[in-house]
Amino acid sequence: MTKSTRDDPENRIQLNRRHFLAVAGAGLFTPTLTAIAGSVEKNNDGFFILRAQKFDTKFFGDKGPATQVWSYNQTSPGPVIKVKQGEKVKIRLINELDQPTTIHWHGIRIDNKMDGVAGLTQEAVKPGESFDYEFIAPDAGTYWYHTHNRSWEQLARGLYGMLIVEEPEASPTREINLILDDWRLDESGRIDEKSLGEVHDWAHAGRLGNILTINGTQKPRFKLIPGERVRLRIVNVANSRIMEIKFADHDPWIIAKDGHPITPRKLNKDDLLLGPAQRVDLLLDATQKPGTKSPIQFVDQEQKIEIASFEYAQGPDNGSSQPPASTPPKSLPITMPHDKFAPLDAKAVPLVMIGGAMGSMEKAMIGGKMLDWRQLVKAKRVWAFNGIAGDLDKPLIRVKRGQTVRIDIINDTSFAHAMHLHGTHFKVVARNNMSFNNGEWRDTELVFPDEKVSFAFLADNPGKWLFHCHMIEHQAGGMVTWIDVV
Ligand code: C2O
Ligand code: CU
Repeated sequence: MTKSTRDDPENRIQLNRRHFLAVAGAGLFTPTLTAIAGSVEKNNDGFFILRAQKFDTKFFGDKGPATQVWSYNQTSPGPVIKVKQGEKVKIRLINELDQPTTIHWHGIRIDNKMDGVAGLTQEAVKPGESFDYEFIAPDAGTYWYHTHNRSWEQLARGLYGMLIVEEPEASPTREINLILDDWRLDESGRIDEKSLGEVHDWAHAGRLGNILTINGTQKPRFKLIPGERVRLRIVNVANSRIMEIKFADHDPWIIAKDGHPITPRKLNKDDLLLGPAQRVDLLLDATQKPGTKSPIQFVDQEQKIEIASFEYAQGPDNGSSQPPASTPPKSLPITMPHDKFAPLDAKAVPLVMIGGAMGSMEKAMIGGKMLDWRQLVKAKRVWAFNGIAGDLDKPLIRVKRGQTVRIDIINDTSFAHAMHLHGTHFKVVARNNMSFNNGEWRDTELVFPDEKVSFAFLADNPGKWLFHCHMIEHQAGGMVTWIDVV
């Protein structure tokens, strides 16, 4: 890539968007009822088995072409893993792929050895080998698990699943999971392999897909019973696409972000604008009449595209509790430690993002050497934090356990970035020089072009914690560092 193509006005992205719309609107879908319960075998030593395996899935219905994806246990997404808060989780990853892989438990305040980051917290698991993950999930909520090796390829091929940590008291509320992904397929319906690793995408908004799936299928239909209240667990697992969704005819409550409870309220404008890896939990009251069909929409600029729908049962179910639709839900208990979290005494560290197309990056460091833009493009390191293009030899900051840390991010690029911190959650304490405390914990937050955003967190979990953009092509292209808690 030369300087002149850096300045080109995002041709590729718009092409992708048009292509995406064309496919979405072309009636290629065969709607199917969704089902994502995978069967998980349990070894007699108490470990659940996740086999990373190739698997043929059908994005276009039974008569359409098959698409080979990489899966856990021959289901895409992988099986929903449900555990109780505080329970010991034992999962054995068996790698039956021909590439090394790992599993990262996104958002879990986990023991560092179990964090699954190839090259930082463990060696990637070689083909034919296995690795035992054992951890306790301290917070109830909606999480997910995914590969953390060559994620730009392995995530694009489908290595992810939902991880639900249940509250201690069983809740009678019915749950519906919405796992949103976009895939880039070629004309024959296969994964578009030619575009994997393309530096052009890496330097733009990432590798965007051209079909959109929910729970591994297109246009699923979800049953609702008139009068019931359901909990929706929503996660965006796309490599790089920011997804905005909308519920027609319904006015849900938001009760959690990135797994952590917030005071229940009606939706704000951007609550359903989800960056890669972000989650929300909603409570939706089924206020429509029996037999109603109501769309779940994907918002693309001004357009709304139906990507799934609710279908109301014909009559009220006898067993349904029928709460009055306007009753606000109760807050779920927050288990994040607040007591030692002290934003005012925080140790501050700046993080300036540079790079990408239409950016101002002239040079950056790799392995202690200063490279110019042309060399960086060749090395596929087209982004940098504080002038360093993705080196992991030194942390961004080394802090003592118990310290509150504030990272002051300046996005000096032309793209949005979904910054994710491993091992704990943070609070967004300032945005564009306005400080605030909205009580919300996040593990992933969008930082838009020219924004200044400050994250604060309590560094109470020792270990090496990755901090990176979850637009996975940006991570691979240099937007990655780590924090050392000693
Ligand atoms: Cu969801 Cu570093 O990962
Ligand atoms: Cu990014």
